[in-house]
Amino acid sequence: MELFLIQSQEHDFLPLAELNAVIESEGFNCNVKKLRSGLVIVDSINPNDFDYVYQRLTQRLAYTHQINHILLKTTLQDLDSRISTLDWNSIIESSFVVRVKTYDSDADVVAIERRMGGLILENSTNLKVNLTKPNITIRIIIYKDDVYLTCEEYILNKKYFQDFKPHKRPFFHPGCMSPKLARCMVNLSRIKTDQLLLDPFCGTGGMLIEGGLIGARVVGCDIDWNMKNGSAINCEYAGVKDFKTYKVDINELKMYELCDAVVTDPPYGISTTTGGRDSLIFKDFLISIKRNMKDDALLVMASPHFVDIDQFLEEIGFEVLERYEIRMHKSLTRIISVIAQIN
Ligand SMILES: C[S@@+](CC[C@H](N)C(=O)[O-])C[C@H]1O[C@@H](n2cnc3c(N)ncnc32)[C@H](O)[C@@H]1O
Repeated sequence: MELFLIQSQEHDFLPLAELNAVIESEGFNCNVKKLRSGLVIVDSINPNDFDYVYQRLTQRLAYTHQINHILLKTTLQDLDSRISTLDWNSIIESSFVVRVKTYDSDADVVAIERRMGGLILENSTNLKVNLTKPNITIRIIIYKDDVYLTCEEYILNKKYFQDFKPHKRPFFHPGCMSPKLARCMVNLSRIKTDQLLLDPFCGTGGMLIEGGLIGARVVGCDIDWNMKNGSAINCEYAGVKDFKTYKVDINELKMYELCDAVVTDPPYGISTTTGGRDSLIFKDFLISIKRNMKDDALLVMASPHFVDIDQFLEEIGFEVLERYEIRMHKSLTRIISVIAQIN
């Protein structure tokens, strides 16, 4: 069975990297095929696993806008006749809307939406069109000459990433990361349900919230009491169930349980404090964190373009697996690195 993902085009590589990381960490058996920027097909999903795979991708992904179940693939010429081959009463509960999206095609969106709505009604009984609150959206995705007839069974919570901005949380401090990027970094760490995720520079708790919401146990540390307490307040507010926060300097970090993943945004002295150690804090951090990670744990970290973390990595026993650049503004590009340990 197959899913059609419509992904964000705000970054060239992150949306696909995030998808691959989630598939890997969840152990899903499937193929990922990129059609073009923003359009991805996940196929060869075992029918017994399909519902779970669909739900879990919908719960976890940040840089994906929609996930649609592919009912059939056809051409514009054959679309009308293929409509009658599907059992619409088993796909739609009571009401539906047809939405058409085109990519590299000049097909007439409005005309197709109207015609397909009519054909579905003709080939079913007791269904209704509801343009504002349908039970299900039938989405027709036209890419060049290919037409994918799909339905959206699980809806991604895009509103969460758009509206639940850090300044709307009970505890706010400038310099915190957007929930979208924080979720993506958590996903890049390949963390699994019930595993232990650590952010040793937890600030307002952005990483902890995103890790917690996808089912990880999360621990946050910060040198600042306000951050230690504030991140706990934010976790509680976001509905994270299994979290702990501590006031700890990175140099003194000693976890009772080694963690399964570290996801963090270390301070670099622009809007956050480094405790007076500036870029050397990255070296202190890498030395200290290695002692607190399981051998196969990954480290996903953000760093500013002007700090060269590579000078420390090999010496301390790390290697970069993946790296992405995000231009924040004129004077800051954020580098996101996925780092493994050399054991
Ligand atoms: C860039 S902020 C983290 C922001 C966080 N990702 C968020 O969503 O709010 C870095 C944090 O590191 C903390 N910090 C600075 N020096 C530290 C140290 N030596 N040990 C532990 N935490 C430290 C700061 O108090 C700050 O809260």
